[in-house]
Amino acid sequence: MARIIGGIGASHSPTIGFAKDTNKRDDPAWKPIFEGFDEVRDWVRRKDIDVMFMIYNDHITSFFFDHYSAFSLGVDDHYAPADEGGGPRDVAPARGHAALAQHVGMALMADEFDMSFFQGKPLDHGCLSPLSMMGDDSGPWAGSIVPLQVGVLQLPIPSAKRCYKLGKSLRRAIESYPEDLRVAVVATGGLSHQVHGERAGFVNEDWDNEFLRLIEEAPEELVQKRLADFVELGGMEGAEVIMWLIMRGALSDKVRRVHLNTYAPSVTNIATVVFEDLGDAPEAAETQAYRDHMMYELVGAEKLEGTYPFTLDRSLANFRINDFLHRLVIPEHRARFLTDFVALAAEYRLTDEEQALIRERQWIEMIRRGVSFFVLEKMAAVVGVSNPEIYAAFRGETLDEFLATRKVPITYSVAGGDRVQELDKA
Ligand code: FE2
Repeated sequence: MARIIGGIGASHSPTIGFAKDTNKRDDPAWKPIFEGFDEVRDWVRRKDIDVMFMIYNDHITSFFFDHYSAFSLGVDDHYAPADEGGGPRDVAPARGHAALAQHVGMALMADEFDMSFFQGKPLDHGCLSPLSMMGDDSGPWAGSIVPLQVGVLQLPIPSAKRCYKLGKSLRRAIESYPEDLRVAVVATGGLSHQVHGERAGFVNEDWDNEFLRLIEEAPEELVQKRLADFVELGGMEGAEVIMWLIMRGALSDKVRRVHLNTYAPSVTNIATVVFEDLGDAPEAAETQAYRDHMMYELVGAEKLEGTYPFTLDRSLANFRINDFLHRLVIPEHRARFLTDFVALAAEYRLTDEEQALIRERQWIEMIRRGVSFFVLEKMAAVVGVSNPEIYAAFRGETLDEFLATRKVPITYSVAGGDRVQELDKA
């Protein structure tokens, strides 16, 4: 059974990654940053942590305002470093624990948190600054991560109270995962800082110290605060410390602080803190009841003949082919799909099997494998096939046989423009 061994709080300022990449360990101005993270890294090693659950916010690198969400759980099996403007950092990709992420995703949704899920997205300094400090001269940290991206940059954002509640669910989620894993919940961000406007450069070390005391001893007092309170005390961007309440909610009431370091050399107070969890493991019956609750919505659906629920597991296993077909919404990709398929498929590293499934229009085989119907209808529109023809193929019928089962024998497609007129005449 997975156990939460402790919680880590760490600022995620780009200063941290910069210090590491430019090897400033022996420079007195930068040394305290390394000293704080050295202690965190030693604790992670000493406690044999297998997975770090990384709570962070992206800085409009991989998550833009075209679709901004509150709680986005990474369900991928690897995460590349992001390019934030000057090229990606020279750090190894992080390994994702996809099975734990899927389990946590199911659990949080069952607890009525409306999660979003991501894969194929690189990580920016919000996650990578502290994560890269877990490696040493022998290489990057050898464990795996589950990242949770919290959208704190475009208002409205979740409240401190909502974050704390999510943390409580996260504890049940992790501790009901059947594999023996030692997990640390890592909150990143803060402490006080503001990077925009005339108030840029705002730092409040007194508040930072009080925040660090409260998160350990009386998190409920922080939970009562409004976003505006955090902004006043710790700066607009410093209000991202509400993410620390997810970590604190995931720990038991009683924790032991085994490390604390703060250092405010410039525009933010760079902090590292480690809490060991003193709570008991849940009872077996309690864990089973929680797993049943998690599966309540879906159990039985897998027994329905001819039905293939599109789960996170299937989505991850088929991301490459779904992504390739989804791109048919882009005119250039669509044109090359029709005229230059072999080269295009090679560019997207489709396997021979994936290429054959598409080329031979093996509609039902693609569904059985985990290709989404909603990319197949795009492909159908591109190759001039109507939706009812796909339904007929799924059922092993001719189009006429399928249409004979409908009240009105109509055909249609998601095609637009000239294509819809062509399909209508066909
Ligand atoms: Fe941040």
